[in-house]
Amino acid sequence: MTTTTTGAAVPTERVDAHAKVTGALRYGADRNPLGVLHAAFAIARVPKGRIARLDIANAEAVPGVRLVLTHESDPGVKSGGFIMGGGYGFQSRQPLTDDRIAYWGQPIALVVADTLVAANEAAALVEAVYETEDSSLDLDAPGAETLVQAEAIPLPFLADVVIGDADTVLGECAVQVDSVFDLPVQHQNPMELIHTVVEWRGDTLVVHEGTQNSGAVRNGLATQLGIDPAQVEVISPSAGGAFGQKNSLQPHTCLAAVAARRLDRPVKLVLTREQCFHAASFRPLSRHRVRLGADAAGVLRAAVYEIDQQTSRHDLFPATYTDIASRLYGIPHFRGRQRLVRTDVQTPGYMRAPHEHPAAFAIESAVDEVAYAAGIDPVALRLANDTATDPVTGHPFSSRYLAECLRRGADRFGWSRRSPEPGSMRAADGTEIGWGVAGGAYPAHTVAAVARARVEADGTVRVEAGGHEMGQGIRTAIVRTVAADLGIPTDTITVVVGDTRSVPQHLTAGSWGTASALPVVVDALAELRRELGVPAQGPVDLAAAVAALGGAPVEVETTRTAPGQPPESLDQLRRGLVALAGPEYPQFSSYSWIAHFVEVRIEATTRRVRVSRVVSVADCGRVVSPRTAESQVRGGVVWGIGATLREATEVDPRYGGFLNTSLEEYPVPVNADLLADIHVEFIDEPDSLLNGPGVKGLGEVSMVGVAPAVANAVFHATGHRIRRLPIRLEDLL
Ligand code: MOS
Repeated sequence: MTTTTTGAAVPTERVDAHAKVTGALRYGADRNPLGVLHAAFAIARVPKGRIARLDIANAEAVPGVRLVLTHESDPGVKSGGFIMGGGYGFQSRQPLTDDRIAYWGQPIALVVADTLVAANEAAALVEAVYETEDSSLDLDAPGAETLVQAEAIPLPFLADVVIGDADTVLGECAVQVDSVFDLPVQHQNPMELIHTVVEWRGDTLVVHEGTQNSGAVRNGLATQLGIDPAQVEVISPSAGGAFGQKNSLQPHTCLAAVAARRLDRPVKLVLTREQCFHAASFRPLSRHRVRLGADAAGVLRAAVYEIDQQTSRHDLFPATYTDIASRLYGIPHFRGRQRLVRTDVQTPGYMRAPHEHPAAFAIESAVDEVAYAAGIDPVALRLANDTATDPVTGHPFSSRYLAECLRRGADRFGWSRRSPEPGSMRAADGTEIGWGVAGGAYPAHTVAAVARARVEADGTVRVEAGGHEMGQGIRTAIVRTVAADLGIPTDTITVVVGDTRSVPQHLTAGSWGTASALPVVVDALAELRRELGVPAQGPVDLAAAVAALGGAPVEVETTRTAPGQPPESLDQLRRGLVALAGPEYPQFSSYSWIAHFVEVRIEATTRRVRVSRVVSVADCGRVVSPRTAESQVRGGVVWGIGATLREATEVDPRYGGFLNTSLEEYPVPVNADLLADIHVEFIDEPDSLLNGPGVKGLGEVSMVGVAPAVANAVFHATGHRIRRLPIRLEDLL
């Protein structure tokens, strides 16, 4: 519980809770500017080729249709570039710029009409004839092109991790495990669909759009449309979920802007759920071969970890699976190798714990195999392999309480009552019970940031910070920090995030949002105190302080870079580019850590797997917002359960595209699936090396390790080691 400097408790509720549950909170697509027109896409229904003929006459004849934009009517937009290639977009490919079809579902026409009904009707009447080409849709498809990442993208942070001589040492180990793990395509599926509402006010383009990256949307649109970034305003105070799907410029936004300019009317575009499966990033296919070697006492000596990950033809989405795999334990000999497989899809990208969730499934399942092979308790084995030093850099971790997470979790879960033999714990009705454990880690990145704080004569405070609210609670974390620091009520504080009319806005992703925004806000509060001439600590009578200075509002602005981060990163930030530091800082490496303990119950006849109990203990540094932090972990656990037992996007191997493109056929856990009692605890020790407030990230680490904990519990219950997700009933027959 945070208290103010006066000792009063700061309320833990989300500051936007009431607005959310009453529907008062307005999201991007809730905007209906006067005269707004509605847009809809027609999409390609072949996986690869070119448009031989496009017939839009029937579409144009639908009453109320104002415009049908195609590559033939030349929207005149450029690519916004690929976010992992120095650009702004989720992919470099920009639809409607030529006749090429690079993936099923690529937009071929944008229809704009007076009503949504007319736009949808007309979009369905766009007729295309294609010259199709052979496509490659999975890792083993003929024509899929496999590249060694270290050669294809020669950047230091994407190089293979090599420590010692893993291949030789592996062969000498008393205990050896060699397993292959497969993970499916998955889609983020935030409740809020991808959308934009665009409007020209004179020469200024105003964009209302739920995004994690208003700075990239602004600068990317300027590039695409050939205008000055100062002519673009992106306003995104709240996104209705994002999870990486909204981490960059979407290629449809510029098309809506072109339509709005041609028609001189505001335009709203909301993609359908089906289109969201094809028009934005997703978690790509990946295959993981893990070889682990340990001595007879279960001490890990060597690991070889080789991954193939899907990417698109037009972009290389980099893989970083080896990053946490080489750091979960103190393995002295490690060799990683990551390959990228070019296939005919839109460019995949970041989806919550993008590489860490699959890596943890592979590594932590294999560690469980080592534990069984060596006859050692899985918790004891993990504790025996703990390390205070980063095996990759030789530097210390800035903080690492993984062992404490494991010990405390084992205690809360009652792990000592576990009987180790697979199939040895059964309920009276024959239900098989299994207990599994796994750890997780996530890099503690930091981005360059700017914050502004302003006090009015009445003592109310407005704080602007780089960051986006997508439900994770960054606004609540900032309000609580300001309230506690100045000793003022939370309802006198306004926080502005996700708005390019304020301070520069950085991509909010990779669990660095709060850890990047809070330190610079804390700096701004210190600066504000100096400016107001009040003591550096303790409660402040803000109205009195402003009055003493003459009554005019007082405003300060501060900037902050991470340890070792060059000052030019602030320029990158201002240009809407990713300006990232860590997890390797000059003196230390920083990660968040977690341990999950899971109980599964498997019905004897139906083989239905249910998770009945979870204990998760996380080390995310200091917990600044207990309510939202606990919700993050609970949500991460729920997501992890879904990712293990439910979620997979099915690829159509013949005609391309994804098949189960609705929430009916793409099952995510619902309340009825979640009988589990999910118990969440935090270590709550500040990481004072990393930043002043001592905070690390939490959003993604919360789901890292859930999948292997469930799979290890399934093994304990049944003796079946399932190495492919999701785990299905037929795997357990
Ligand atoms: Mo995230 S998957 O970095 O938004």
